Amino acid sequence: MCGIVGYIGEKRASDVIIKGLKRLEYRGYDSAGVALFNGELEIKKCKGKVVKLESLLTKDDQARVGIGHTRWATHGEPNDINSHPHTSSNGKLALVHNGIIENYNSLKKILESKGHTFYSQTDTEVLAKLIEDVYSKNSDDFKKSVQIALSQIEGTYGVAIIHSDFPDQIIVARKGSPLLIGVGDNEMLIASDASAVAEYTDQVVYLDDGEIAVIKKDDYQVHTLDDNSLIKEVHELALSIEEIEKGGYEFFMHKEIFEQPKAISDCLRGRLDPENGTITLGGIKDVLEKMADAKRLIIAACGTSWHSGIVGEYLFESLAKVSVEVEYASELRYKESLIGEGDVMIVISQSGETADTLAALRQAKENGALVLGVVNVVGSTIARETDAGVYIHAGPEIGVASTKAFTGQVTVLTLMAIKLAQVKGTISKEKADRLIKELNRIPSKMEKILEKSSELDAVSNLFSYAPNFLYLGRSFGFPVALEGALKLKEISYIHAEGYPAAEMKHGPIALIDEMMPVVVIAGTNHTNDKMVSNIEEVRARKGRIISIITEGNEEVENLSEFSFSVPDTEDEFSPLLTVIPLQILSYNIAVNRGCDVDQPRNLAKSVTVE
Ligand code: G6P
Repeated sequence: MCGIVGYIGEKRASDVIIKGLKRLEYRGYDSAGVALFNGELEIKKCKGKVVKLESLLTKDDQARVGIGHTRWATHGEPNDINSHPHTSSNGKLALVHNGIIENYNSLKKILESKGHTFYSQTDTEVLAKLIEDVYSKNSDDFKKSVQIALSQIEGTYGVAIIHSDFPDQIIVARKGSPLLIGVGDNEMLIASDASAVAEYTDQVVYLDDGEIAVIKKDDYQVHTLDDNSLIKEVHELALSIEEIEKGGYEFFMHKEIFEQPKAISDCLRGRLDPENGTITLGGIKDVLEKMADAKRLIIAACGTSWHSGIVGEYLFESLAKVSVEVEYASELRYKESLIGEGDVMIVISQSGETADTLAALRQAKENGALVLGVVNVVGSTIARETDAGVYIHAGPEIGVASTKAFTGQVTVLTLMAIKLAQVKGTISKEKADRLIKELNRIPSKMEKILEKSSELDAVSNLFSYAPNFLYLGRSFGFPVALEGALKLKEISYIHAEGYPAAEMKHGPIALIDEMMPVVVIAGTNHTNDKMVSNIEEVRARKGRIISIITEGNEEVENLSEFSFSVPDTEDEFSPLLTVIPLQILSYNIAVNRGCDVDQPRNLAKSVTVE
């Protein structure tokens, strides 16, 4: 959460920083700010989005060094004062921070007793004053002062600091919150993620936890907090600017929904061989035997990724005959940890930076489990820390509500489940051949759905102002129901719940009346009869049935007030198709309600605090 950008070089720093902040705004958009060094330190910050900050900047500023921040508030409400950057008492130091300083209260009391006055309610301001305090006693070495101050911090940080005594450098450090250095030609950038630097360089250095870097325009030096010098690998970015621009769409989410056929083709490319009925997954080829020996798999994830984990559970259990537990990463951490040697954990994360997922990964590794990643962002912390893994290759996902990453994750899990089933011999050759051929057809089936997306306009308009929605599904339709409800909640602020269809009778049925739209995911064939009974139960209570059906399912179509059909496919692949109309329904409703689809209130795309 929170986006950090910094620049030092020959260009106007404010231009680079504002552009970068706009690219990182999906990480948080409660407030924004910059600190520029222009002979003296100049701070501009405000509640609201980066465009508002941009309007505060003067056209004639010539600063070549600066840091910027876009905030997702943790401590202190979003207002001008709580916005970053925060400064030292003498006004010489400014810093921006992503993370949480857990011991800020005790540090604050000590600093107050030393005469520092605090103006904000943030945890971050403590760090600015703490570094100043340490530096006042170690005035010969600013980097060392930062190292000492950071070693007193409990919690997490990605931090960027400038100081007017050192106008030619930016100091950055990381513990728990991502930061990278973009290495340019006579210029350096720093950012929370690569999208902010991709326009200027394709050479990046990822900082790891416990590292600090002093960055000058033509050099960077990385050390540990206890000052051991490090040689860091320089990675090449494979990120094009087109991928991170809207390309004519009004919202990134809309673009990303329509990118799904391509994203899935990219994900399958080189991995699926329908002619020979084989799957190649280079990232996990060395651990397949270990996976085959595992008595159980544990899947850990958050949000939409957790929903794809449930699809994964059904896939691995039905195809590879292995028992699967799907855990919220945030909860797993606080349970008695029974995960250890012999267990295989799969962590799923679009961003590869979600704090709880990362913590679950680390705990499982520490206990001796094999940990595999299903991650979208190449080079992200989770991707780097897992023992092995399979990238989704969905391309950058910028809309806060996940769409193509979900279908990408499900595709990777499908590939893994079929592959594992083949290794274990739990799938017949005939079935594997059939599934592999059909998986190859999924992108074109997705195209067909997208081509007729306007069929959803009428139902979207009709129910745009409904206060509640219920989503029901069985088997592979259940995680789709959860995901459909989440999409609607996230971007339109309509209360929605996803339920296993039969569970409706244990509570939600009490809510059903003539005002309640009930979205039924009837895309799997083997659950059709039971879904029909559930639909009748809803109709008997005057609920309004919107169904997502497989082409030709006239029985459910005739029982529905509105229905949208998707092409027939294998039950196992139905989530890849049935989720798309639900994404579009949510998108249309959010647009009708005038919501900011890409940046829904209170949310952030990358949740790097616990
Ligand atoms: C946030 C995002 C969701 C995402 C979840 C998990 O809540 O808004 O779209 O599903 O985090 O993120 P991850 O990057 O780990 O998949």
